[in-house]
Amino acid sequence: MKNILYLIEEKKNLTKTPIWIMRQAGRYLPEYRAIRADVKNFLDLCYNPKLASEVTLQPIRRFDFDAAIIFSDILVIPDALGVKVDFVKNEGPKLQKISTKSDLQKLKIENISKHLQPVFETLRLTKSQLANDKTLIGFSGAPFTLACYMIEGGGSKNFDLVKKTALQNEEFFSQLIDILTESVALYLIDQINNGADVVKIFDSWAGILPENDFQKWVINPTKKIIAKVKEKFPNTPIICFPRGAGILYENFAREVKSNVLAIDQNVPKLWAKEVLQNKLNVIIQGNLDNQLLAYGSKNEIEKEVLKIRQTFGEKPFIFNLGHGILQETPIENVEFLMKLIRQ
Ligand code: CP3
Repeated sequence: MKNILYLIEEKKNLTKTPIWIMRQAGRYLPEYRAIRADVKNFLDLCYNPKLASEVTLQPIRRFDFDAAIIFSDILVIPDALGVKVDFVKNEGPKLQKISTKSDLQKLKIENISKHLQPVFETLRLTKSQLANDKTLIGFSGAPFTLACYMIEGGGSKNFDLVKKTALQNEEFFSQLIDILTESVALYLIDQINNGADVVKIFDSWAGILPENDFQKWVINPTKKIIAKVKEKFPNTPIICFPRGAGILYENFAREVKSNVLAIDQNVPKLWAKEVLQNKLNVIIQGNLDNQLLAYGSKNEIEKEVLKIRQTFGEKPFIFNLGHGILQETPIENVEFLMKLIRQ
């Protein structure tokens, strides 16, 4: 039995809390670094089904997590649309900037399915090797977060250019969001067609938007994506992660109706329990501080893990971090976390 899938579908609490962690395949693992060292560009790894599938399975073998998340990146969508994406060592992603209507006309939604075939093959390959009790998670970036990287040409501290663009050139911004909404829906549907049991939508920068803009650029596009995916696959669970949304998580939960809501480490636990779990009947995933796991003492980690489980554990709950695991995280801290969760 796939316990995460079961927990979500039946909305039932399990005797053992299921766990997986964001970015569980990655640079904190020596076996990942060994494979990464042999490929020149990060995207070459994402588009190599054999290696990507191997990397997806590494953390499952080592820690016995309850879910495997397919190894890829959110930026494969702009790449598939025809925007040049490059991962520069120690600098993060660099993208060709999008700024005009003619840039939008060059984006090719019809390329999504073809260009991302290697990801679909990675899903099939992983599924064929994954134990029956493990849930396979596919994912995509959300339109707003993808637009952030496409407009800024990479990461940014405050995404000022994005907010300026949305305010001064709303028609352009809205068209970009529409293109991405369509692309994400197609991409998720293809992932489910190729074996994803659950899909997750990462809106990593949702938290920079005030209420009205959050409605326009986070809630509304996500609702459209979910409607499109559910039309084809009504029973496939969707996890949403509007990171940093604060108490706007409540607006999100009321309107979006994803099957699971992933909460970041800044969401106060008692508030989440009362509002999201009890009032709105939402299944929560989260939210151990990734820095605590990397830098905290065993004693502090244990206290916090206990608090999270005591707060959320009476209802169906999936244990995870509040954001991706840091490269600096000692393997023994992850082993310690697994021991706490499994005991
Ligand atoms: O969770 C997993 O194990 C699956 C793989 C996964 C990666 N990226 C692999 C990756 C997932 C789910 C992502 C999502 C992703 N990528 C997000 C959303 C989640 C979040 O963290 O907010 C975002 C914003 C990105 C964009 C991205 N990719 C950045 C900003 C960077 C550079 C920063 C960094 O950590 O290097 C990446 C690169 C990236 N994606 C790496 C990995 C393992 C590191 C690249 C390498 O190994 O050289």
